[in-house]
Amino acid sequence: MIYPIVKYGQPILERAAEPVTEFNAELEKLVADMFETMYAARGVGLAAPQIGISKRLCVIDESGGENPSARLVLVNPEIVSTEGEQVQEEGCLSLPDFRANTPRPLRATVRGQDVHGKEITLTGEGLLARAFCHEIDHLNGILFIQRLSRLKRDSIKRRVKKLVKAGEW
Ligand code: NI
Repeated sequence: MIYPIVKYGQPILERAAEPVTEFNAELEKLVADMFETMYAARGVGLAAPQIGISKRLCVIDESGGENPSARLVLVNPEIVSTEGEQVQEEGCLSLPDFRANTPRPLRATVRGQDVHGKEITLTGEGLLARAFCHEIDHLNGILFIQRLSRLKRDSIKRRVKKLVKAGEW
């Protein structure tokens, strides 16, 4: 099932999500739906709050569906260490058509659980490190525009406001 994606402005995107405590068929179905929703939207990552579900869960596929082994599910993830810095263009399915150069760590190590509740630790570099940080930010109610300068953030907010007024958001 493809979910509608919640856009910037909805309060669920700016509050911390609840830990996942039950690892069952329902969670597996939700993860499958999140992948389907992410691929349909041509994203490389999707966090549960973006489909209106305030749970600490995200999916990532930096291959965009090309490589089945690139599919990652992170449940209750936390960044445990980071290294270096990178600045690359970043976007978000909840802020369609807005992109900005965003600073992120070059490498990031994440600890969490898989869909069955098993503990996992993953290290990503480049785009994957960026995706880890972006999606885990979502679970903490943080959007990428909060990682930008106030000037850039305010400019994006103003443009969104105009779109809202025009009924185009
Ligand atoms: Ni996002």
